[in-house]
Amino acid sequence: MLDDAPAWRGGWLNRLVARPGFQNWASHFPLTRARARRDGAELFDLVQGFVQSQALMALVELDVFRRLRAGPQTAGALGHAVDVPEDRMRILLQAGAAMRLLKLRRGRYALARQGAALMGVPGLAAMIRHHRAFYRDLEDPVALLRGPETTELSGFWPYVFGARGTVPEDVARTYSDLMAQSQGLVAQDTLRAVNLGDVSTLLDIGGGTGAFLESVGGAYPRLGMQLFDLPQVAPDARERFARAGMADRVEIFSGSFRDDPLPEGADAISLIRVLYDHSDDTVRDLMALVYKALPPGGRLIVSEPMAGGARPDRAGDIYFAFYTMAMQTGRARSAAEIAALCADAGFDRIVARKPARSFVTQTLTARKPEASAPKSV
Ligand SMILES: C[S@@+](CC[C@H](N)C(=O)[O-])C[C@H]1O[C@@H](n2cnc3c(N)ncnc32)[C@H](O)[C@@H]1O
Repeated sequence: MLDDAPAWRGGWLNRLVARPGFQNWASHFPLTRARARRDGAELFDLVQGFVQSQALMALVELDVFRRLRAGPQTAGALGHAVDVPEDRMRILLQAGAAMRLLKLRRGRYALARQGAALMGVPGLAAMIRHHRAFYRDLEDPVALLRGPETTELSGFWPYVFGARGTVPEDVARTYSDLMAQSQGLVAQDTLRAVNLGDVSTLLDIGGGTGAFLESVGGAYPRLGMQLFDLPQVAPDARERFARAGMADRVEIFSGSFRDDPLPEGADAISLIRVLYDHSDDTVRDLMALVYKALPPGGRLIVSEPMAGGARPDRAGDIYFAFYTMAMQTGRARSAAEIAALCADAGFDRIVARKPARSFVTQTLTARKPEASAPKSV
């Protein structure tokens, strides 16, 4: 029982801080005042986080950022353009300004730096829009934690349940687009973390419509590439590679890593934002397949947002942990957990890079041993 647990260091302080009246005293006492007020403001930010997210949703849905790109506007003009009464539009714009996405100058609202940045991040507005489904799953977070029969997000990403032929093509296209739009940042951070200079052929499993390989191909003009993804997804990559002038450098394979063998011939394999969609059992089977497909000395590259493990991370342990929970199939894993799965499959020289932006991705690499010992599994 928690109450019987020995008092841990700092327990007395927490008991003191939790006492009714302490906050009031601390926010006036000169030595604790600044800290207590900062703590209070941070706490209030957590309490109101969902309101900020919904106000952000309204700004995106009403296309406010794009409308302000041409120049500052009044609440009246913007409200008229999007059919929202002026007084309510002002409430939304004030909220946008309080979140530092907009700024108020002489009665007119303009884009602030963060608002402009939001428009400049490919896929961010689409990601915010699709949060409607995630938000409904979070409406009763305790029910979500207890494990509902079904969730909206599991319907949005049906491919992870995955037998071949079960994903309608239009659904496949919606999520592939969303993934491809956000892939640029993931590719940037991944390519900063790993050097593929010594690789001849890279196989990207779950490579979607090829956005990652397009970036890789641009950075390594002599690299051969293979893409493997579900039959409803992989063929769409053809157009991208043709547009990028890379058609003759990439082989595209349709299949499921649950049922089909992996293509042969690559000396490196990447799994970009793939593992967190799947259960430990599926990941174990996939790791074994990847290990088998690589030659001795071959390299595995895993890149996806990860949980923080012993050092909890805001993106990995809040957003991605709950997102994958709502998807009902996978989970956000820490680098240590992924490293353990790699080691179980037989990989060694496992290195987890410190993420530049944990909300974008974190990268881990591993090698198949040169003198490959028979696996005991
Ligand atoms: C989250 S998306 C990531 C796509 C891409 N790697 C990226 O980072 O943009 C996961 C990808 O894994 C693919 N996928 C899921 N299950 C699969 C399976 N059983 N076999 C092959 N690909 C699969 C999906 O079609 C999807 O393209």
